[in-house]
Amino acid sequence: MKRFFTSLTVLAILATSTVSKADVSIEKSSFGQTKSGDEVDLYTLKNEAGMTVCLSTRGATITQIHVPDKDGKFADVTLGFDDVSGYEGEDNQYFGNTTGRVCNRIALGKFTLDGEDYELAINNEPNHLHGGKDRSLDKVVWKAEEVRDEKTGTGVTFSYTSPDGEEGYPGKLSVSIRYTLTEDNKIRMNYSAKTDKATPVNLTNHAYFNLGGAGSETVLNHQLKLEADKYTPTDETLIPTGKIESVEGTELDFTKMKKIGARIKKLDDTAALGYDHNFVLNNQTGKVKLAATLRDPESGRVLTVLTDQPGIQFYSGNFLKGQKGKGGKEYAHRSAICLEAQHYPNSVNIEGFPSTILKPDATYQQITVYSFSVVKPKEEGETKTSEKKPSENK
Ligand code: BGC
Repeated sequence: MKRFFTSLTVLAILATSTVSKADVSIEKSSFGQTKSGDEVDLYTLKNEAGMTVCLSTRGATITQIHVPDKDGKFADVTLGFDDVSGYEGEDNQYFGNTTGRVCNRIALGKFTLDGEDYELAINNEPNHLHGGKDRSLDKVVWKAEEVRDEKTGTGVTFSYTSPDGEEGYPGKLSVSIRYTLTEDNKIRMNYSAKTDKATPVNLTNHAYFNLGGAGSETVLNHQLKLEADKYTPTDETLIPTGKIESVEGTELDFTKMKKIGARIKKLDDTAALGYDHNFVLNNQTGKVKLAATLRDPESGRVLTVLTDQPGIQFYSGNFLKGQKGKGGKEYAHRSAICLEAQHYPNSVNIEGFPSTILKPDATYQQITVYSFSVVKPKEEGETKTSEKKPSENK
């Protein structure tokens, strides 16, 4: 009898796990055509809990993320456009895109590798930003394949092969990113890349978050905690000086939960115009660990970012300019932030930084997870209390 029940339990567990994985649905629809006539698809993933994520084949982009607040009300918490034409327009600031081949800046667009000098497009005077001008990874149309796998989960794998020399980078680079949605409201991104010639690779996702809903006026009341005691200071053009310094006593100290707006004004007149800094994560093990926690006290929504990357760029939407996004909503200055898990900017030119060089005999791999939840009533109480005492909130 006991054995009978044990087998029943095992069967029940097996059945539940099978059902829960199969229960993330995938729908494919058209997202429009690029200016050059390429068809772009949109994949909509939805889990049992109702969380919805939309992914477009242009730029392997996250275009929508609908998650519940503390009362169960859903909102889309990421910035973007209604169709591909918005993403091709001037108002797109890498919303939700995959950024690369090398995200962030390469000083003066130059580097030397294996004795050869390379020159890249200067698209952020005087530097190279986010992989280039015309064929960076955010601008090309990727192939997509639906994934329904017991082990890996349900989602979409995007792949793109960047030919040797594209945007000035050496080597033919084959990149793939598998996005999966879990039943516990996580978006999991598994990156991988292979090259046939040594080349720098640094990939990230450039999603902008406002946990009150995309188009909410500001993100300055959100609270942030970064698992980073150090950061990489930069020069006037946002290129790291090569030093690694402590955040202690500076506006960059997010080692404890702190309001984003608490000290941002002090950065108004700096080159970064706000937060636009690479934080050196405490976790340098190459294993996936907590990197950032973002919390909106009003809606109760919480985002945690987990990654195996050594750094995270915290960018406070300083260049958002009131452009119109999804449903005609305006994206005001500092109304969303990016938390870009990555290697440090300009690593290809700075010896002391963890290397971004991928060699033909190796595989680039990265895992980053966006995990959504809500503040539990007790935590919420704590937040309110601490808000009454602003000094504790700094
Ligand atoms: C960079 C910013 C840049 C922004 C573009 C961020 O990753 O750090 O400097 O302006 O991307 O949207």
